[in-house]
Amino acid sequence: MKVLIINGPNLNLLGVREPGIYGARGFEEYLAELNSRYADVLSIEYFQSNHEGSIIDKLHENGFGQVDGIVLNAGAYTHTSVAIADAISAINTPVIEVHISNVHRREEFRRHSYISPSCVGVIAGFGLDSYRLGIEAIRERAKK
Ligand code: DQA
Repeated sequence: MKVLIINGPNLNLLGVREPGIYGARGFEEYLAELNSRYADVLSIEYFQSNHEGSIIDKLHENGFGQVDGIVLNAGAYTHTSVAIADAISAINTPVIEVHISNVHRREEFRRHSYISPSCVGVIAGFGLDSYRLGIEAIRERAKK
């Protein structure tokens, strides 16, 4: 099985960026943990970009059978991007929306997601473990 994790803008600064909200751990370290946890059952590809168009290109490239599922943290584009929502709707690969923080406990503008209606489901508020939960959702879905 193959899973792609896409991180959007500012998520390259995890570990440094607002640690009170996003934690003190960098994503690369967490990714290494995920890779060893799932080493026998799936391969995880990782992509991060601060650019909306690059995220859309990556969704297109992996949208038609290249991977079994995509775990997407679109960062602030979640709350602004009709173009990313359209890209998710345009592809066949299931996309799980994830957020490290509980966006519903924060500012009002974070409560609205343009991408949720195009995604299979949403996981928010479990810290970095949100990504593992996203992978588990893809694995369960693949069994059906
Ligand atoms: C985030 C929540 C977004 O509102 C924010 O813009 C981010 C990160 C999260 O993972 O909690 O960049 O997606």
